[in-house]
Amino acid sequence: MIRITNSIFYCGVNDRDTHLFENLWPLPYGVSYNSYLVKGSDKTALIDTVHENYVASLLTHLRADTDGKGIDYLVVNHVEPDHSGALPTIVAAFPELKIIGNRQTIGMLKGFYGIDDDRFIEIKEGDTLPLGDVSLKFIITPMVHWPETMMTYVPERKLLFTGDAFGCFGALNGGVLDSSMDMSIYFDEMYRYYSNIVGKYGRFVQQALTKTSGVEIEFLCSTHGPVWHDNLKEVAGIYDRLSRYEPEEGVTIIYGTMYGNTTAVAEAMAQRLCEHGVRNIRIHNASKSHMSNMISDAFRYKGLIVGAPTYSMSLFPPIEEFMKAMETREIKNKTVALFGSFTWASASLKKLLEYTQRMGLEPVGTLELRQSIDDATLSQVRQLADTFASSL
Ligand code: FEO
Repeated sequence: MIRITNSIFYCGVNDRDTHLFENLWPLPYGVSYNSYLVKGSDKTALIDTVHENYVASLLTHLRADTDGKGIDYLVVNHVEPDHSGALPTIVAAFPELKIIGNRQTIGMLKGFYGIDDDRFIEIKEGDTLPLGDVSLKFIITPMVHWPETMMTYVPERKLLFTGDAFGCFGALNGGVLDSSMDMSIYFDEMYRYYSNIVGKYGRFVQQALTKTSGVEIEFLCSTHGPVWHDNLKEVAGIYDRLSRYEPEEGVTIIYGTMYGNTTAVAEAMAQRLCEHGVRNIRIHNASKSHMSNMISDAFRYKGLIVGAPTYSMSLFPPIEEFMKAMETREIKNKTVALFGSFTWASASLKKLLEYTQRMGLEPVGTLELRQSIDDATLSQVRQLADTFASSL
């Protein structure tokens, strides 16, 4: 186990095997399932477990590092099986251990694993569990990212176990603390993690941030990714901005194409925006880029331009999927432009507009292309880019 600070140790695992998180989202750098051990002078508590595929590793750590005393408590901040999958084995291995959770935690754990009633201790908001020289205080933070989610604070160490909040994709490369590793991959992976996994629940993340704003923090210990210590301000800022849907400077262009005509519009838009001084432009061909990267960039940057051909009198399917992802995540605060194309009957632009209307987004301009781009259309593209650039 790796020591984080006095009394608190990391006993999580790295998953460099799984291709898709939730069977949906690629893991180019892997992912960690973070579990922590709090060794008080009287009692020991485990904070969350790991994915069931890695239970053997967790068990080995716990048997080796609890000085033969075992574990008194297992605090479940989040029931999702990437963190609770190992729970039945751990509970069986330590028969005296009590599981700490709120009412919803307990209901879910019974449903997933059939755990007996006498193994649980139910806690409520603000309750404290003494472990001797340190204690655990529970802060209920629903919907970050499931209804039962909560955080656990160790006031004596100014350390907060946050569940999925402040998490990111990326297995840990040797260390655990942010001060001990190169952080460059984790920040980008934080945008992708937040926007894809937690993105729908921005207002709940804001409620959790408000609730914890008065708490003195020196360590943020999430269920995924590094323990934050040196970069607390930056990490809190990213989660705060994303959960308020506050964008960064830049433009994301998402287009679908079959034969390259909408590509020509996307490229011409990007070129004109560049001439206007826009420097941060991300362009995605929706048939090639992974959805998780498109969602991440669309969340992150202020400008969003979407274009698609008409397909079977509707939207080109990869763009339909992208727009559904935007609607699901209740995306807000965007400068939007749309373009559609068709050969003999127009439908895609109308469908795109139906999505933006439902999302309460008012495009600053639209454009429709019939068959291919000619000089007149190119002029319209430039005008649309001019309007868009001045609206950013
Ligand atoms: Fe990492 Fe919502 O579980």
